[in-house]
Amino acid sequence: MRILSGIQPSGFLHLGNFFGMLQRALRWQQKGETFLFIADFHALTTVGDPEALRRNVREAALAFLACGLDPKRTVFFRQSAVPEVLELTWLLSTVTPFGLLERCHSYKDKLAKGIAPTHALFAYPVLMAADILLYRADVVPVGIDQKQHLEVTRDLAAKFNQAFEPVFVVPREDIEENVATIPGIDGQKMSKSYGNTLELFGDREEFRRRVMAIRTDSTPIEEPKPIAGSVLVALYRLVSEPQELEEFIASMRRGGVGYGTLKKELLSKLERFLAPFRERYEELRGKSGLVDEILDEGARTARAAAAPTLDAARRAVGLV
Ligand code: ADP
Ligand code: TRP
Repeated sequence: MRILSGIQPSGFLHLGNFFGMLQRALRWQQKGETFLFIADFHALTTVGDPEALRRNVREAALAFLACGLDPKRTVFFRQSAVPEVLELTWLLSTVTPFGLLERCHSYKDKLAKGIAPTHALFAYPVLMAADILLYRADVVPVGIDQKQHLEVTRDLAAKFNQAFEPVFVVPREDIEENVATIPGIDGQKMSKSYGNTLELFGDREEFRRRVMAIRTDSTPIEEPKPIAGSVLVALYRLVSEPQELEEFIASMRRGGVGYGTLKKELLSKLERFLAPFRERYEELRGKSGLVDEILDEGARTARAAAAPTLDAARRAVGLV
């Protein structure tokens, strides 16, 4: 079974990305042959700054490797290192109804956010279909926001197979519906756009400062603290043993412990949890050649997997 997914390089990763996406992606390694790529062609539809794109791609690669991506198990590569995907995008475009793309929510959402309505932004789902079909993926695990793009992919594969020859595997979606939302330091969903993140690999002092700034209520030290809706508890739960969590909650219920003390306790568990990843990150950062080698090696494997599919598609339409 081949499992494939793409990730948009979007800058420094935070705890929400880790628990909402990274950790899940790394579990697929145990389930089958995994292809994972950094969707830099897709990122071009929204990132206009070349330096930012380079930095974000590098950051995503480092973060995945530091958090446990095993290049022996996962074919890990940059989308743009396999230009075959663009040729397939064109072939698929010829069976893509304009109206199908017009109905895509993510296109409309991006326009509403003020992103320029370029051809690339409009054609985004066709490139995504090419990503998936090129490598004959059987299963594509994505978040609910990508469900419609998966439907477009299945639709285009079926249309092409019917119009020409059965070239493509029609992939199965694997939608993760109940991913818990990780709260940020202000209690809203942790997100770069809200400025409420705890970055995995950012400055340590800033990390500490932000943990100490987590929003709490004004319950006095001696009184019991509310558990429901507490950001401290939500974060503590992610990085502690069940026994530790029980004690943490018990000490809040008893009262007599101030929020400052509770935050310090959370900080120490967060740092304990992140320590091995941060160590690996620093190690890898010092060996920039190694990261490039891993991505290049992944791209070679991916290109070899892509070639027969593209060849079959070219033949099917009459280009060979
Ligand atoms: P941001 O909101 O910071 O811009 P992205 O939209 O780039 O984050 O998210 C990248 C991935 O991380 C997505 O798969 C998303 O589902 C996951 N993710 C982001 N924030 C959270 C969160 N607070 N809780 C759970 N998952 C999250
Ligand atoms: N569009 C996806 C996202 O924003 C990223 C992506 C690009 C992708 N190509 C893909 C995901 C192929 C799965 C399969 O998250």
